Amino acid sequence: MEATTAAPKKRILSCIQPSGIPTLGNYLGALKNWKTLADEFDGAFAVADLHAITVRQEPAQFRKQINDVLALLLAIGLDPDQSILFIQSQVPAHSQLAWILNCYTQFGEMSRMTQFKDKSQSHADNVNVGLFAYPVLMAADILLYQADLVPVGADQKQHLEIARDIAQRFNTLYSPTFTVPEPYIGKQGARVMSLQDPLKKMSKSDPNPKSYISVFDAPDVISKKIKSAVTDSEGSVRFADGKEGINNLMAIYACCTGLTNEQIEADFAGKGYGDFKAAVAEAVIEELRPIRERYERYSNDKAYLKEVAAQGAERASRVANRTLQKVMKKIGFVLP
Ligand code: TYM
Repeated sequence: MEATTAAPKKRILSCIQPSGIPTLGNYLGALKNWKTLADEFDGAFAVADLHAITVRQEPAQFRKQINDVLALLLAIGLDPDQSILFIQSQVPAHSQLAWILNCYTQFGEMSRMTQFKDKSQSHADNVNVGLFAYPVLMAADILLYQADLVPVGADQKQHLEIARDIAQRFNTLYSPTFTVPEPYIGKQGARVMSLQDPLKKMSKSDPNPKSYISVFDAPDVISKKIKSAVTDSEGSVRFADGKEGINNLMAIYACCTGLTNEQIEADFAGKGYGDFKAAVAEAVIEELRPIRERYERYSNDKAYLKEVAAQGAERASRVANRTLQKVMKKIGFVLP
């Protein structure tokens, strides 16, 4: 009988910044998909701590946040023996490739990045070069692992496009070196909006804590925040233009229950927003409950987190260094 060899699994990579407690937006837009895709693909997932220092971080708090986000990756069910789970700064190839790719990226391209424009407004006192070059580091994160697919929320789409442009440019200039990555943006939950201003993205850096749900919020806090979410005066649960608050709650509910908008509309026909909000709160609480419980366990086990990070950094470095060596050779660096 002829031996059949299975085709190698495709690679996915994604990262999350440890710049505060992750929100329901991070979870529904990205983390939940990571968990689903990790079984089907070769996954690499990182705590993007190098990205987080584009904004000032208080050292003790920063250290805690990095560990907490690593604990969260375990809590959502990622298995460190299956996927590569690592802390970005523990794999030096990210900084090395980012520098190289800076020299293959144009000033004009970076100036057009909407996130840079937004952040330079919100941090006007610290518009540093790292903030400007941030998408190049993100391209390095992705290209080092030859990722086929990058599961992200809709806000990262522009950064993904730049990563693709940089990869294609390098491949054309030398010879095929990088896999050109595709974004994976879920149909529901790709853009979870603020509960207080549904025209704005839900964000952990929002000064109003009522605008976001943190993945570690207690059930009564989640209920209160959803109860006070901004809606409209129509009073009917349906997805439509001009009903951004309800649309957002429907998207959140759909992600947590697997129901379609049509099913949700049918279930809540003739019922008011009070009933709907209570159901959304319940669904979010049940979705986050097991994560919060597992997180408590992992975040207190510092020795285990250290072990996971060390193992992850070693596995990640093996993959990343292979790409870095290839790149350096093509450019003409003298390798040791
Ligand atoms: P970050 O840390 O801001 O967010 C992590 C992931 O969560 C998604 N997300 C959302 N999705 C839906 N609704 C929201 N309100 C919402 N807010 C955040 C983000 O799209 C992201 O997928 N630059 C990245 C981190 C990064 C990265 C990478 C991602 C660094 N290197 C390489 C992919 C590949 C960021 O700041 O994500």
